[in-house]
Amino acid sequence: MKTKLILLLLFFVFQLTTLTSNGVYVNPTFVQPDTGAVCLSGKPASYYFLQGFGKGIHNWLVFLPGGGWCATPGYCIKYANNTPFGIPVYFGTILNNNKTTNPDFFDWNKVVITYCDGSSFTGNSHTIYNGTNLYFKGARIFDVVMQELLQKGMGMAQNALLAGSSAGGVAATLHCDRFHNLLPNATRVKCLSDAGYFFPS
Ligand SMILES: *[C@@H]1O[C@H](CO)[C@@H](O)[C@H](O)[C@H]1NC(C)=O
Ligand SMILES: *[C@@H]1O[C@H](CO)[C@@H](O)[C@H](O)[C@H]1NC(C)=O
Ligand SMILES: *[C@@H]1O[C@H](CO)[C@@H](O)[C@H](O)[C@H]1NC(C)=O
Repeated sequence: MKTKLILLLLFFVFQLTTLTSNGVYVNPTFVQPDTGAVCLSGKPASYYFLQGFGKGIHNWLVFLPGGGWCATPGYCIKYANNTPFGIPVYFGTILNNNKTTNPDFFDWNKVVITYCDGSSFTGNSHTIYNGTNLYFKGARIFDVVMQELLQKGMGMAQNALLAGSSAGGVAATLHCDRFHNLLPNATRVKCLSDAGYFFPS
């Protein structure tokens, strides 16, 4: 019993050190609500920014997370209320700043745009359903965050990668050309869609 407990404890300590050695928690930056870039619920949109360093200072990785779609107004109301808001996000795997575990991107500028529109970063409309406001502003969120990033230095990027997973992978495909067109001709631009092809069900 005691051994099991100690092993369990060691396991957690190991997990903690692996976690902390491979990434960091990043706090959100909220966009001004007067830009119209708001979440499904009307709360301000946000993104998470981790500054690049060294040779990666002019390289940018923008990541669009997944989280499914809300397909009916009733479900969109639930979705709006259940979207996590304003919490720190852990930058691990492709987003971590550890050279050993992330040799290609560890020193890049890294951005995660909060996924809170319920429709893969599409739409720029507003509706009232059964007395509840629903803001479908995903495309606007993408555009407004891009403008902020261009001003933060992405406008001088040498390399830029728009990546996304699941619903964010769909968004990476949908926004790839727009992303490319925002950047100078000299920027090398790629897009990565991870698990971003949904078969009709
Ligand atoms: C990077 O990750 C490796 C492998 O997990 C770890 O041994 C090392 O301590 C980490 N480096 C830093 C600076 O956290
Ligand atoms: C409309 O809102 C009321 C009050 O919140 C709720 O009881 C009802 O189930 C809702 N109707 C629909 C169709 O969502
Ligand atoms: C960028 O490339 C486009 C298409 O090749 C060209 O029309 C445009 O003049 C270029 N812009 C700059 C600033 O070089």
